Amino acid sequence: MSERLRVGVLGGTGMVGQRFISLLENHPWFEVTTIAASPRSAGKTYEEAVNGRWKMDTPMPESAKKIIVKNVNEVEEVASEVDFVFSAVDMSKDEIKKIEEAYAKTETPVVSNNSAHRWTPDVPMVVPEINPEHMEVIKYQKERLGTKRGFVAVKPNCSIQSYAPVLTAWKEFEPYEVVATTYQAISGAGKTFKDWPEMDGNIIPFIGGEEEKSEKEPLRIWGHVDDTKKEIVPATEPRITCQCVRVPILNGHTAAVFVKFKKNPTKEQLVEALRKFSGIPQELKLPSAPEHFIQYLEEDNRPQVKLDVDYEHGMGVSVGRIREDSVYDWKFIGLSHNTVRGAAGGAVLCAELLKAQGYITKK
Ligand SMILES: NC(=O)c1ccc[n+]([C@@H]2O[C@H](COP(=O)([O-])OP(=O)(O)OC[C@H]3O[C@@H](n4cnc5c(N)ncnc54)[C@H](OP(=O)(O)O)[C@@H]3O)[C@@H](O)[C@H]2O)c1
Repeated sequence: MSERLRVGVLGGTGMVGQRFISLLENHPWFEVTTIAASPRSAGKTYEEAVNGRWKMDTPMPESAKKIIVKNVNEVEEVASEVDFVFSAVDMSKDEIKKIEEAYAKTETPVVSNNSAHRWTPDVPMVVPEINPEHMEVIKYQKERLGTKRGFVAVKPNCSIQSYAPVLTAWKEFEPYEVVATTYQAISGAGKTFKDWPEMDGNIIPFIGGEEEKSEKEPLRIWGHVDDTKKEIVPATEPRITCQCVRVPILNGHTAAVFVKFKKNPTKEQLVEALRKFSGIPQELKLPSAPEHFIQYLEEDNRPQVKLDVDYEHGMGVSVGRIREDSVYDWKFIGLSHNTVRGAAGGAVLCAELLKAQGYITKK
């Protein structure tokens, strides 16, 4: 029998789910044994259920093709086959909250890509290089749920991955005011140009709920575990204001960002801080960890989506154009892959961290 942990992918037929299935092909620690989706797909082989809507550049993994898709709502049945699940189902927020907790209560850890639990006070929302210590709140969540090994952990929204890691690397200079505009790819809405032809040659200046997430989620990541309240208490600085724009790009969210610092650094200090920034995933050499989390590109015309979105297999962040600003102190451009680091890849790295920390084990 394989020593790898048995994984279920909830919402495995969708765009993020497909990314999970692709990223987990030949994963050294995890093996996809179960795929679940809506009742529409249940009972079909994965290949049949996804027929005509495979959205990845690489072919569907052979090992997934013949898996019979289960119904996400049959919690006990799915949970009985796996050591933990990734969640990428698209349902209402309340339904997602309920079903993710239902899985946790079967003693099945849930690593979720969804936003439903991002503000549940005892659910950790983690970028493994930034706040791995937030997993400590899981013990309080287990108390609440009455579980021994079941819990929910989440990763943050895709939009913040192009600037929150950068601001974290600059923490010593005390950024206190940030203005960001994000230029977000259509895959962030689960779409390709085939599904969304109106986006060809177009810009849409609205992405529902995205600005609030982009302004607030970084503060929760920079918060701390409060052992008296038994929850994560968000940080209060820096203040972030954000505009989120949908652009005609398939993969890759770009951010144009302005920052004010209490301790104004030099450009050399800023670049140096990015280049040396790393965390526990790099130290532990987790399987999906980028060797270098953030790269700085000196050329004036970088980062570019076409050239840089796949940096470190889509798990790294590319930064360029750091320059002084006449209103703010400094400005820069950041780029990250929204469905890899920003979605499934970020969740896989969280699961690797959870395994390394002993939270995810064989049942
Ligand atoms: N795309 C991104 O980059 C991104 C980034 C961050 C977060 N997210 C979030 O991740 C989730 C998935 O996004 P996506 O883009 O992958 O969506 P998607 O392509 O529409 O896939 C949705 C998945 O959920 C399943 N599903 C839909 N309705 C269901 C129901 N009533 N009961 C059970 N399963 C149901 C679908 O199954 P069927 O195939 O059987 O219909 C499919 O597997 C969403 O909550 C989204 O907001 C997406």
